[in-house]
Amino acid sequence: MQNQFVIYGANGYTGALVAREAVTRGLRPILAGRNAAALATLAGELGLDYRVVALDDPAGLDNLLDGVTAVLHCAGPFVFTSQPMADACLRNGVHYLDITGEIGVYEALAARDTEAKAAGVMLLPGVGFDIVPSDCLAAHLKRRLPTATHLTLGLRALGGVSQGTALTGLEAIARGEGGMVRSGGTLTPVPNAWKTRTIDFGRGPRPAVTIPWGDVAAAWYSTGIPNIEVYMAFPESMIKAMKVSRYLGWLFRVPGVKALARSRIRSGAPGPSASARAEGVSLLWGRAEDAQGRAVETRMQTPEGYTLTVLASLLIVDKVLAGAVKPGFQTPSMAFGADLVLAIAGVVRTDL
Ligand SMILES: NC(=O)c1ccc[n+]([C@@H]2O[C@H](COP(=O)([O-])OP(=O)(O)OC[C@H]3O[C@@H](n4cnc5c(N)ncnc54)[C@H](OP(=O)(O)O)[C@@H]3O)[C@@H](O)[C@H]2O)c1
Repeated sequence: MQNQFVIYGANGYTGALVAREAVTRGLRPILAGRNAAALATLAGELGLDYRVVALDDPAGLDNLLDGVTAVLHCAGPFVFTSQPMADACLRNGVHYLDITGEIGVYEALAARDTEAKAAGVMLLPGVGFDIVPSDCLAAHLKRRLPTATHLTLGLRALGGVSQGTALTGLEAIARGEGGMVRSGGTLTPVPNAWKTRTIDFGRGPRPAVTIPWGDVAAAWYSTGIPNIEVYMAFPESMIKAMKVSRYLGWLFRVPGVKALARSRIRSGAPGPSASARAEGVSLLWGRAEDAQGRAVETRMQTPEGYTLTVLASLLIVDKVLAGAVKPGFQTPSMAFGADLVLAIAGVVRTDL
């Protein structure tokens, strides 16, 4: 099955969106995951092969990856799922793509750069909304101001979140993770919603707060800019709640509380509806500054986050299957350039 790819976690909200679009484009990925019943249903609907393999089964993963070119890993929280799949990819010479936004996962994969180069394997996390648009924006700002020492990125997502995204956030709060910025090249923990600033994404000023978005890790590798902050726009009431949440990590470590929160999340819709995805957009803004006080700013508009994740991940899968591969740890812009995101329908980039 040369030039074949696997979608792992294919029965999840996002994995299934990707699988459906892949079939529409004439691709025939192998669907995989741990959930036999859900995979059988989806594979039956799409007319695809499926394989049931748990991530704690290295022999099963080796078998799954035998002869395939790449894995698109869609099973998160990736803090629990990335390493066994990356291990399997490195053992089997298979390129690893995922849709994580988790800083710890980027750092863990970046630490395996030498190992990946030796194996001829590309480790490319963040091929979805985290972080294709923002990473391309960061690389574009660096291109506009090569002397930049400070990078500030802002995001405004006009659309909902999936259960998987909410659960990934819950896990981070429960582990006591707060915010994160990069300062002097070093990842620096800060409180949740540490700093507030007003950002104009092109539709008037909006309040935004620092969040531990994947670019705090990745943009350092993409641009070498040592000081990085990422902001997300929220309503004022949400910003207040985020500040209160700084003190809630302990609560989710009380037996039963995390399980209750999980079941509340699981009782809702799996993710944004088709109409919410079609109507939503995402807005980005970025600024790079240097020590001489020069600054450049750029805005970007993209499709809604889950739609963008489908389009970006399959764009990158196409490139990898066509042999466009750089072994080692990569970010989207390192692998495919700052203009990668412009190949996605509906993306508009505007230099200010
Ligand atoms: N980059 C982006 O912009 C972007 C976009 C969308 C989602 N995400 C991230 O992608 C992840 C999935 O999101 P989602 O909305 O698709 O979530 P979801 O609907 O909850 O699906 C999660 C999938 O992962 C599987 N899974 C979870 N833990 C696993 C484990 N330990 N071993 C094997 N399989 C496991 C689940 O299998 P079961 O059915 O067996 O539970 C399911 O197939 C989340 O971490 C989310 O934050 C990122």
